[in-house]
Amino acid sequence: MDRRKFFQKCGAACGLGAVASTLLVESCQKSSSTPQGPSANFTVDLTKAGNAALTKSGGSGASNGVIVVNLNGTYIAVAQACTHNGCSVTYTNSNFYCPCHGATFDTNGKVTGGPTNIPLKKYTVTQSGNILTISG
Ligand code: FES
Repeated sequence: MDRRKFFQKCGAACGLGAVASTLLVESCQKSSSTPQGPSANFTVDLTKAGNAALTKSGGSGASNGVIVVNLNGTYIAVAQACTHNGCSVTYTNSNFYCPCHGATFDTNGKVTGGPTNIPLKKYTVTQSGNILTISG
């Protein structure tokens, strides 16, 4: 069968296959630089035993898909799910680190290394006494 006859017989099926292949490749590429993370609006009570780590500088805790960190007395919060494949990031050595494939993010959620170029969503944290409000 010559090339012309092949394409005549193949017709729409070959076209759909080519479109599907293109869509699959595009869906696997992480090209967005828009930070990713869930919407949040919750409070953290620093007097509760489960939040004791947050009372110390460098301490962290996670809730509602958000990781909250005490950064030298100032609180920050970013999305907990890594923007590569969704593993939970941890806070260590002034960075967020993903143990699955090694992505790293700074305290603003900006990518500093690893297989993603999508930042972690950063949340607004306000403090009133012992209550933190995380929103965004
Ligand atoms: S899931 Fe985080 S680096 Fe792959």
